Amino acid sequence: MPSLLVRNGRIVTASESYDADLFVDAGRVALIGEGLSLPADTVLDASGCLVLPGGVDVHTHLDMPAGDITSADDFETGTRAAAFGGTTTIVDFATPEPGESLFAALGKWRRKAEGRAVVDYGFHMALREVGGTTLAEMAQLTRDEGVTSFKLYLAYPGVLQVDDAAFFAALLGARACGALTLVHAENGGVIDVLVKRALARGETAPRQHALTRPPGTEAEAVARAIALAALADAPLYVVHLSCAAALAHVIAARDRGQAVAAETCPQYLFLSRDEYDRPGFEGAGYVMSPPLREAADQEALWRGLASGDLQVVATDHCPFTLADKARGRDDFSKIPNGAPGIETRMLLLWDGGVRAGRIDAQRFVELTAAAPARAFGLWPRKGTIAVGSDADLVIWDPERETRLAAATLHMRVDYNPYEGRVVRGGPAAVVSRGEVIVERGEWKGAAGRGRFLKRAHRSPQPA
Ligand code: URP
Ligand code: ZN
Repeated sequence: MPSLLVRNGRIVTASESYDADLFVDAGRVALIGEGLSLPADTVLDASGCLVLPGGVDVHTHLDMPAGDITSADDFETGTRAAAFGGTTTIVDFATPEPGESLFAALGKWRRKAEGRAVVDYGFHMALREVGGTTLAEMAQLTRDEGVTSFKLYLAYPGVLQVDDAAFFAALLGARACGALTLVHAENGGVIDVLVKRALARGETAPRQHALTRPPGTEAEAVARAIALAALADAPLYVVHLSCAAALAHVIAARDRGQAVAAETCPQYLFLSRDEYDRPGFEGAGYVMSPPLREAADQEALWRGLASGDLQVVATDHCPFTLADKARGRDDFSKIPNGAPGIETRMLLLWDGGVRAGRIDAQRFVELTAAAPARAFGLWPRKGTIAVGSDADLVIWDPERETRLAAATLHMRVDYNPYEGRVVRGGPAAVVSRGEVIVERGEWKGAAGRGRFLKRAHRSPQPA
């Protein structure tokens, strides 16, 4: 495997910033020091740039079936777009069909990724039921397959939603085998009633998506999930937290000493409910769950990111084309849920977070790489720059300007939620396991070079 020397950069991890060169051998960081002059197959000059750990995005939905359609990015296009944005590791969601074994689902998702993914990837497992062999399979996946996190939905009745009994059983099962439980926290039953009432009134436009999923439906589900996790004495991770009311429950639980962590996503920091009032059917592009909120919620989330009350920024990348979104033209509840974001996470968070003075560069690394790597059993292989770690690096040019536009970004979708926004700060080069895969906006990687990551688990806590 070719060696690599990165010279003249400023290394930034979650805990330190310092000027140093680094030498990469066999895909791993071999040496960090001042003025290194070792012979190397490739030399990158990082003058004027920061050298960051590659981003870790722990919430993506690539090649995900949704009824008779599929999310628009597969593992090749999605991970390539991720790399262009500085992300070198993803954790996607394998989702079994009703009645399908978890092992069969994992096999299916591994086949989707193999030969396609261009950066390293792991899988969470979604659970749509908890019975039969579920608990035994959870234990085996955690122990033997490196699938150490399980997600349950408290939303989407009749499709993915589980009841409290299943959720509680999963929490106990995860605790017993040392896995982490993730929750999509919205009250699906209440939302269902609100949706039916809106449709009965003839209210069919995209803005109803937000009106029928008010913050209270998320806050209630977050509070319930936290209460059940406390009863199970099990750790909990709340995905895509979007509003102040839900965050308040996370803060209160953490203040009580409960093991609760939460992620938010750029869409909840940068976009608001106003997007649903765009002309025509444009608001459909912003239909995602939870929906976009209000300015006060954005402020609360920013405070949470700065203070440590929120731990991770992921994307929930789940793109659908406008043609696919159009199936909900006469009924907002039929608009496929989800939006693109895998490529723009780090660009937006740097520009709107670091450049805007809301967080510093080390906190940026913590939120986009270190904390997700730690939470999901990838640390210290991923998420930091240290001797022995995988050489997943982003040569980050704080002055690099990008105009966000569907036509020039690399996600396979025909619109971008941030179309026209100009952001400053972005990757001059991206390195995955010592290989330069993006350099000055040019693609240098190869399909299928990404590897499946077996993630570590926590200590099992038998009942
Ligand atoms: O709208 C969303 N978030 N779609 C993706 C699936 C999910 O709920 O995470
Ligand atoms: Zn999601």
